[in-house]
Amino acid sequence: MSRTEYKLGIIGFGTVGEGVYHSVQERAERLEELLGKRLTVPAVLVKDGEKSRSTGPETKVVTLLKDLLAEKPDAVVEATPDAETGYPYVRELLKMGITVVTANKELLAKKGEELEEIAGEHQAELLCEAAVAGGIPLLNTLRHTLKTNEILQVNGILNGTSNYVLTRMRTEGTTFGKALEEAQEKGYAEAVPDKDVDGWDASYKSTILSRWIFGQEPEWESAEPEGIRTVTAEDLSLAEHAGGRVKHVASLKNEQNRITAAVRPCFVFGDHPLYAVEDVNNGVHIEGSLAGDVLLQGPGAGKYPTASAVVEDVVNVLNGRHEKLVQNRLVNREKDEGGGADEEQFILLTGSEGLSRHLSVNGFSVTGKLHEPGWNREGVVVKAKPADITGFKKQYREAIGIYPVLADGKQVLHYFEQRKQTRAASF
Ligand code: NAP
Ligand code: HSE
Repeated sequence: MSRTEYKLGIIGFGTVGEGVYHSVQERAERLEELLGKRLTVPAVLVKDGEKSRSTGPETKVVTLLKDLLAEKPDAVVEATPDAETGYPYVRELLKMGITVVTANKELLAKKGEELEEIAGEHQAELLCEAAVAGGIPLLNTLRHTLKTNEILQVNGILNGTSNYVLTRMRTEGTTFGKALEEAQEKGYAEAVPDKDVDGWDASYKSTILSRWIFGQEPEWESAEPEGIRTVTAEDLSLAEHAGGRVKHVASLKNEQNRITAAVRPCFVFGDHPLYAVEDVNNGVHIEGSLAGDVLLQGPGAGKYPTASAVVEDVVNVLNGRHEKLVQNRLVNREKDEGGGADEEQFILLTGSEGLSRHLSVNGFSVTGKLHEPGWNREGVVVKAKPADITGFKKQYREAIGIYPVLADGKQVLHYFEQRKQTRAASF
């Protein structure tokens, strides 16, 4: 006998889990139209069974997986804080052939391959639109409406918390600590916010994105991601005065049958697609072989944007209309100017006055200088290998900021040509 409802279990009832629960209640009629059946939530599984929850009488709050399973869910949303917590639940569910929709990027980055295999063996699905770029319909768009394209490059602001912090520091003069506290209050940050501001969250998302698009994990340009702790208010202001911005960017490159990745603060000019992606928003700049430059932008974190992505996955999977990896999309194209870690690229260095002189003395070729009378800091764009800049930083007696420039040679030279007319840049 076919049931008149689909049953959804939810594991984790924090920002995301609660957002999913209330979205399902608020959009009940629309969901019934889309699914042809009612979508109910008979049980939510949490850690602390004593906390008061905003659930209705039809929903049990349980603390054991067996009690959630007793409700015979058709699919389960997993929204626990980290890989360690989510793994045993998701593994168990997939082994039982139960489809899981997860928002847990750390889990997917660390255990995604294994979990996908288990899902495949047990005719279950594992979906994760919410895990990368929050409310932006990114993953499904990449597989559904960009599937004919080779994806050559992705540069994305993938961590809403870091973008929020940098925006508040620049626009309001808020301190790093206060801005991070605000992001936590708004439900944007991870339970351990170091994962946001030290770049780990963006690196988990890059791993997922690489596997989602290319079917393989990337080779990392450095052993660890770079976060935003080293970005100073002075550098944010210098970049702004120079007509650009410092943004925390995750990059994936697809060239010569290799996928490479980096996560770090970068400098973008005012005409770069990521320049105007502000606040908690994420922006994902995709270079497709047919579509050209595409920017997807929207809220990268928060209760309802994330719930939106989760609920859309739930509808798609229950209707059997979810996207699958068709084939790897590697390309054998020539490398761009300013490619990997072992090649020369344009890099903005910031430091106290005299930095450009020290760079020149040390044999670096200075492309342009950002300085004006009254600025206590100077910015210098050089074309150099990242390893050589790291060497320079080690022996230089003062702190410097290092920001790869997200632009090709022509754009950098054009910028300095234009700036030559003004007092803000000189050679
Ligand atoms: P959160 O507010 O900290 O909520 C975490 C939930 O997990 C809580 O309800 C907690 O239960 C529950 N939990 C913890 N340990 C558990 C255990 N052993 N068994 C069962 N439940 C357990 O976290 P969140 O912000 O909702 O994030 C959830 C996941 O979504 C994370 O993986 C995060 O990276 C991801 N995500 C978050 C956002 C966002 O904007 N916040 C966006 C996209 C993805 P108690 O309530 O009993 O403590
Ligand atoms: N902490 C994450 C962020 C949540 O700030 O982007 C969304 O993945």
